[in-house]
Amino acid sequence: MSCSKLLFLIFIHLFLCKPIFAEKILSLSEVPKSFLSFAKKDEVFDWMVGIRRKIHENPELGYEEFETSKLVRQELDKMGIPYKYPFAITGVVGYIGTGEPPFVAIRADMDALPLQEMVEWDHKSKNHGKMHACGHDAHVAMLLGAAKILQQHSHLLKGTVVLVFQPAEEGGGGAKKMIEDGALENVEAIFGIHSSTFLPPGEVSTRSGPLLAGSGFFEAVISGRGGHAAIPQHSIDPILAASNVIVSLQHLVSREADPLDSQVLTVGKFQGGDAFNVIPDFVTIGGTFRAFSSESLLHLKQRIKQVILGQAAVLRCNATVNFEAENKIFFPPTVNNNDLHKLFKTVAGEMLGAAGVKEMQPLMGSEDFSFYQEIIPGYFFFVGMKDETLEQPTFHHSPHFTINEGGLAVGAALHASLVVRYISDGRTVIDHRLHDEL
Ligand SMILES: *[C@@H]1O[C@H](CO)[C@@H](O)[C@H](O)[C@H]1NC(C)=O
Repeated sequence: MSCSKLLFLIFIHLFLCKPIFAEKILSLSEVPKSFLSFAKKDEVFDWMVGIRRKIHENPELGYEEFETSKLVRQELDKMGIPYKYPFAITGVVGYIGTGEPPFVAIRADMDALPLQEMVEWDHKSKNHGKMHACGHDAHVAMLLGAAKILQQHSHLLKGTVVLVFQPAEEGGGGAKKMIEDGALENVEAIFGIHSSTFLPPGEVSTRSGPLLAGSGFFEAVISGRGGHAAIPQHSIDPILAASNVIVSLQHLVSREADPLDSQVLTVGKFQGGDAFNVIPDFVTIGGTFRAFSSESLLHLKQRIKQVILGQAAVLRCNATVNFEAENKIFFPPTVNNNDLHKLFKTVAGEMLGAAGVKEMQPLMGSEDFSFYQEIIPGYFFFVGMKDETLEQPTFHHSPHFTINEGGLAVGAALHASLVVRYISDGRTVIDHRLHDEL
């Protein structure tokens, strides 16, 4: 090559291919660390913290996340990220990348809990009786953080990332409605994050296979015949019948379930009677049951009904059982895809080091992310947000709940790194058969 030709080529390269010089090309294994540094930059991190605090001050319950949803859309607008709205009343779905397959989703839930915040700080909830006591405010901030990272690195995406902001995770089954409204159309895999107050920032935990239990709820009305407490022979006592019912229900897990197949049945509601000397007409009881397979859940459901009707009849009462009281629905178990688990361990390990990636025991809690996992491979994991200034970790769903915002950068960077890796080389190894047995 002549010298002048070479100079000409260098000239062309310098002026026409400037981005190559402006931005170092990242190898896939460099992506996680590089995304984490990006998320820790003041302008990105402070912006995420600001979003989290704004949402924390204005908590909204399931299917009422109107302001939260508006804030999400405003931030997507500012970043120039297209989205569709509404899904499931307040849900938003954003799109980053080529607009072509493969489509892979990352998800955040937006709803708060009916709880009065007891933490005194500058950004305490301004909505009386409502609080972000499960960290969903942080989940939204991390998903927007991931959106910013991905938008800045969209040249790395050879496919489309679908940002799923869903309503009503806390018992409302928002995920189910998002699916019914088409939020997962064409999407082939999905990732979801939950905050953890037991791990410090920089640590994550999860496992392959069953992670969280499936759950159901029941309510029963046990009716007898009310009367004078001193003349029981003229009444049919539903308090005693309900008490027998509750004791008998305890036998389902202790005597009928396989001890190695973890299950829980708890009666949390018992209402009946107002006076010391009156036998009431009826008693209402209610509770929840949990298990790690749909089969065990359905078995419990059937036996709960039989035991309630049968035990009520023993004491001459009638009973009705309702499994959909207060619009509660069944949640399937949250079961992590094993191939996505391998991908997660690689990516999280590159970002946080092997010591930062913990294996966890399954929990009996439930999560409506499981609805997504019923139709496509999905992966759910916990990101450390322990407030290390406290002696004892705070618990989710407690009015004293706090998080360490330092964890936001890790969550955002992991979301973004996982989908880049999935699209680049992860999807070919994913077993797309769904779990139908555990
Ligand atoms: C139970 O239901 C039967 C049939 O409807 C009725 O005859 C009976 O009085 C009811 N018993 C009580 C205690 O409500």
